[in-house]
Amino acid sequence: MYVQNPNVSVRKPVTVPGLRAMKADGRQIVVLTAYDTSFAWQLEMAGIDVALVGDSLGMVVQGHRSTLPVTLDHMVYHTAAVARGLSATLLIADVPFMSDRDVSHALEAGARLVGEGGAAMVKIEGAAPHILDAIKALTDRAIPVCAHLGLTPQSVHKFGGFRIQGREQEAADRVLQEALAVEAAGAALLVMEGVPSALGERVTQALSIPVIGIGAGPRCDGQVLVLHDMLGITPGKRPKFSKDFLAGRDSVAAAIAAYAEDVRSGAFPAPEHCF
Ligand code: KIV
Repeated sequence: MYVQNPNVSVRKPVTVPGLRAMKADGRQIVVLTAYDTSFAWQLEMAGIDVALVGDSLGMVVQGHRSTLPVTLDHMVYHTAAVARGLSATLLIADVPFMSDRDVSHALEAGARLVGEGGAAMVKIEGAAPHILDAIKALTDRAIPVCAHLGLTPQSVHKFGGFRIQGREQEAADRVLQEALAVEAAGAALLVMEGVPSALGERVTQALSIPVIGIGAGPRCDGQVLVLHDMLGITPGKRPKFSKDFLAGRDSVAAAIAAYAEDVRSGAFPAPEHCF
């Protein structure tokens, strides 16, 4: 098979400081996951701002029940594959389960995901003290960090399943404090997953860094979905916060373009995708 070189984009490259400017200008940031070169190219051609190599690949690519079996080697492999399909789209890669168990492992993960994988930023779940230390250590070494709070999938066993977080006032206040802490530690971006819309909005207003929602309501600075969910090809039930953008369209390219348009116009997420 002949894979065309996509490095011909006429778009201005999306940068880490550029994301903050998008928040300041009120421009919605469109994020979508990708795990290989061909789909990365589809994201690039559709003008997606950020491609995320999520450890969700453990579920939608590898067929596991959670993200926990994903290793750093897996993440580096898929990140490098996605990087080969991108040009202007910014690339973020997940630090997988336990690769952030202390600062030195987090630094090793960051070095490999950026150095070997070609990511511009790494994403880390949670706000425990060792995670705050890792965010600071990575940021100090010029590896930008995206934090991830709310329904953090690597904590599935602690939560007793993939459960919405921050429903009660006390829990919501705790998530807000965590968001302020990851920002203070140096995070340049925050993914808020699976929280009530009111909390998504509260966190977005409280932070100066952009907040990207997934099941966090319409008032975030941008949205992210898992590619397989938004193409309607994830086995089993589609999560409430996702939407099948391929339904009624005749190509993957059209589905991804529709997702980008709906995020930018504010049409997605609609009330039925929110908590
Ligand atoms: O792994 C992933 O795809 C993610 C997104 C759901 C935000 O973390």
